[in-house]
Amino acid sequence: MSSTVQELNRTGKGEGQPVGVALLGFGTVGAEVFRLLTEHADDYTHRIGGPVEVRGIAVSDLAKQRPGVPEELLTDDARALIARDDVDLVVEVIGGIDYPRELVLDALNAGKSVVTANKALVAAHADGLAEAADAAGVDLYYEAAVAAAIPVVGMLRRSLAGDHIQRISGIVNGTTNFILDAMESTGATYDDALAEATRLGYAEADPTADVEGHDAASKAAIMASLGFYTRVNFEDVYCEGISNVTSEDIAAANQAGYTIKLLAICERLTREDGTEAVNARVHPTLVPKEHPLATVSESYNAIFVEAEAAGSLMFYGNGAGGYPTASAVVGDIVGASRNIVYGGRAPEDNTYAKLPIADAGEALTCYHIDMQVDERTGVLAAISSEFAKQGVSLRTVRQEGSEEDARLIVVTHTARESALREIVNTLTSLDVVKEVNSVLRLDS
Ligand code: HSE
Repeated sequence: MSSTVQELNRTGKGEGQPVGVALLGFGTVGAEVFRLLTEHADDYTHRIGGPVEVRGIAVSDLAKQRPGVPEELLTDDARALIARDDVDLVVEVIGGIDYPRELVLDALNAGKSVVTANKALVAAHADGLAEAADAAGVDLYYEAAVAAAIPVVGMLRRSLAGDHIQRISGIVNGTTNFILDAMESTGATYDDALAEATRLGYAEADPTADVEGHDAASKAAIMASLGFYTRVNFEDVYCEGISNVTSEDIAAANQAGYTIKLLAICERLTREDGTEAVNARVHPTLVPKEHPLATVSESYNAIFVEAEAAGSLMFYGNGAGGYPTASAVVGDIVGASRNIVYGGRAPEDNTYAKLPIADAGEALTCYHIDMQVDERTGVLAAISSEFAKQGVSLRTVRQEGSEEDARLIVVTHTARESALREIVNTLTSLDVVKEVNSVLRLDS
C-alpha cells in the first residue's frame, strides 16, 4: 500500500467525490445490494456526501443471465477487480471462509475498506482481519453477519460503548427457531419442520450449520467479542444443536411453563477467585414463557442485552433473508463510504479487556433432567443424594407414569455446569435409573 493511499484514508477523498465499489458475489444478497444501490443512488449520495459507483461485480459464472445488470460490470476475476485504482470499497457477499478470506485480506492490504456479511469468516478470523484493517487505516464492517438488519454490531460497537454489558442472550438462528416453534405450536415432527424451513429458504445450503448450532455459535463469537472487548472465536463457543430435541421435551417444558429456544448466551462470569471471565455458549434452553425471548416465533430473531446502565434491551426482527441482509450491507456501505469521503476512522474491533475465556464447565446454569426410573421405595432418596453430594439443590421434582415405568423430571437450582454434568454421569450409572431421556438447560 502506498503512503498516498494511507494519507487519503486519513483525510478522505473530499465531499462530492465518488466512492468506487467492488461487489464480490451476486447471489440473493448481492443482487439486492445492487438493486438498492441503483434504485436509491440519489439518497445515498446525500447521506454519504458523494455518489457510490459500482465499478464491477465478481461472479463465478459469467454465462448466467442477470437481467438489469450491465454486462460490462461483470467479471470472473475478483482479484483484478479489487486491485483497480478506482475501487475504494470492497463488498464481500460470497460466503464460505478460505477464498473470501484471501479476497478480504487482499482488499484490506491494498488500503480498501471492506463490508462483509460473512459471519463464519469473521468468527473464525476476526483477529487477522482487524489487524489488517487497522494497519491500513480502513474500515472492516460486518453488521449483516449477526441477525441481518437487526442492528446488533452497531449497537455493541457504538450505541452501548459507554455501558458495561453483563449478558447477551439471543435467538440468532431463524431456521432452528422456526423448527422449534412449529414443533411446539403445530405438533410438527422435527423432520417435517426442517423440510419446511428449507423450502422457505431459511436454512443454509447444508442445514447442519443451522440445526447443530454452528451458525448461532459464529454469531455468539462475534457478539461476545464486541460486547466484552475480548476476542472470542468460533471454537471458544460451546455448542449443542437442536437435533436431539424431541416432542416429549417440548411437551414437558410446556407443562412446566417453559418454551424451548436455541439460545446463544454470552456472559461475564465471576470465578471463585473473584476474577472475571467470558463464557459463550449455544444450546437448546428452556425459557420461561413470560420472558420476552419466549414470545419470538417462526423464523424471527431477537437479542436480549443486559447492561449496567441501560438495563435490559431487546432487539427483534427478521434475522435472515436476502432483503434484510442487504439492508445491513448497504447500511455498512453508507457508513464506510462516509469515512472514505470525509476521512477518519478508529479501530472498532477493540479487544483491550482480554478477559480469559471460561471453560463451558464454569458456566452457571440450571438443568432440566428427564429420566425413566424404577418405581420403588428409596428411588427418590438415592437420586436426590447425588445432587446433594455436589451441593446442588433441587427446584422441582415431578413424577409421572405407572409403577413399572415411572418418569421423573427434575429441575435444579443454579449450579456450575461441571457439577451438573458430573451428577448426570452418576445418574446414568445408578441401578434405579433406567435411562436419562434428556438433559436440557434452563434460563431462569
Ligand atoms: N440460516 C440462517 C438462519 C441465516 O436460519 O438464521 C442467517 O445466518
